[in-house]
Amino acid sequence: MTSEPMKRSTSHQSGITIVVGAQWGDEGKGKWIDWIAGGADIVARYQGGNNAGHTLYVKGQKVVLHQIPSGIFHGGQKCVLAAGVVINPGELVREMEKVAPFAKATPDNLWLSARAHTITPWHIATDGRREAQREAAASGSAIGTTKRGIGPTYSEKTARSGLRFGDYVNPVARKNWMEAMASAVDGFAAHCESHKAEWESFSKVAAQLAPFVCDAEARVRKAAGEGKKILMEGAQGTLLDLDHGTFPFVTSSSTIAAGACASLGIPPRAVTGIYGIAKAYLTRVGAGPFPTELTNETGNALRERGQEFGATTGRPRRCGWFDAVAMRYAQDVNGFDGVILNKFDILSGMDELKIAVAYEHPELGCIEQFPWNAEILAACKPVYKTFPGWHGDLPKTGGIEALPKAALDYIRAIEESSGIKVVAAGTGPGREEALLGRDLERLVALNS
Ligand code: GDP
Ligand code: IMO
Ligand code: MG
Repeated sequence: MTSEPMKRSTSHQSGITIVVGAQWGDEGKGKWIDWIAGGADIVARYQGGNNAGHTLYVKGQKVVLHQIPSGIFHGGQKCVLAAGVVINPGELVREMEKVAPFAKATPDNLWLSARAHTITPWHIATDGRREAQREAAASGSAIGTTKRGIGPTYSEKTARSGLRFGDYVNPVARKNWMEAMASAVDGFAAHCESHKAEWESFSKVAAQLAPFVCDAEARVRKAAGEGKKILMEGAQGTLLDLDHGTFPFVTSSSTIAAGACASLGIPPRAVTGIYGIAKAYLTRVGAGPFPTELTNETGNALRERGQEFGATTGRPRRCGWFDAVAMRYAQDVNGFDGVILNKFDILSGMDELKIAVAYEHPELGCIEQFPWNAEILAACKPVYKTFPGWHGDLPKTGGIEALPKAALDYIRAIEESSGIKVVAAGTGPGREEALLGRDLERLVALNS
């Protein structure tokens, strides 16, 4: 039997919407996916693993999701971990238990791709060991990874010796994989011996997760063909992309919009909307160049007001001004239909605000294009435009046009300098705390 080829969606067919982090992660994807997911039938995480920490509020209670898609709390939506994701099985089971008071994850509403790769205790140990070696090298090469085994698991996948999730839940295939690793990889057998309890629990949860494992990509394609609305949830952000980010200070997956199609096995022409989430300022956690970083009182103020501490590792996030050079690049790479400017409330009360519109490099002079090389970027100094700030509380909900003039001018300056269209602004961590702007209806209706 041959299946129908997927057609390009039109206004009355399915909508496939991709939501991407437009900066260095932690833009507030969890909050917005949770909000938008109300209009979706399927919410699919397309890359990364439990290095992600997506915060949202359910019934007033803060929940941080690391692996389960941020659509789980609506009821009725199917949530998917697609082929491009790496899964930590033990942590996933713990997360399912954590969300249980609000949402029950069942094989009917949580689909785990058999093609996804498995994070094992070996990969986590390898991540820690490599990072410690880079730290000891004192050459500034440490990446500051989350030490969740992400890089080593994707390396194993690319080397074609990784453990796919469909094989992980099959006791025979899992045993074969462990034997092959023990004979091929120095130290693997010794690790299994010295970390027996970890490996036993790793094997034990396989039986629990087996009923959730399926050909998730085929199910998603079928649903798309039936006109269902699909929301693809990115993790990390564009500037952490393995190919297009600030290599080597990146994560190990394809975080950009195109990565969603590769992960889900969806024809790019079937996608109907691509939206970016950006902060109204900028943060980064971990090492790597950050031209607009503020290591002064203003940076500390942004961190305190914005509560900029990692949702996964608790590390303080580095803070700085909005970077329009980086945002132009994110727009070029992803082709956003619109960008949500999040955490806008955090800027209230600042006397002045800055936007980097270009960089100045000591040898290359004025640079307007985001450089491919992290060393070049590290030597760049931002060229700023300065804007007056605003004081007093902003409206929490309603239309974006209700903002004070200085705030609107700042948004227009971001749009003009970055070549983006701002479709909403975040005014607080809660689901409803948002000012809605032009063209947002398309996103809320998931492009139907
Ligand atoms: P994600 O990884 O992109 O989902 O973002 P994180 O959850 O790591 O970090 C975003 C943080 O900002 C979380 O603590 C959210 O609760 C919070 N947050 C999200 N949107 C807003 C907003 O518009 N205003 C404020 N003040 N906080 C927000
Ligand atoms: P969410 O989805 C911010 C960063 C790490 C490190 C680099 C590589 O919550 O936005 P890894 O463990 O992936 O090998 O670390 O990437 N990083 C993130 N920074 N938000 C994230 O996810 C991140 N996931 C990884 O700090 O610099
Ligand atoms: Mg996060």
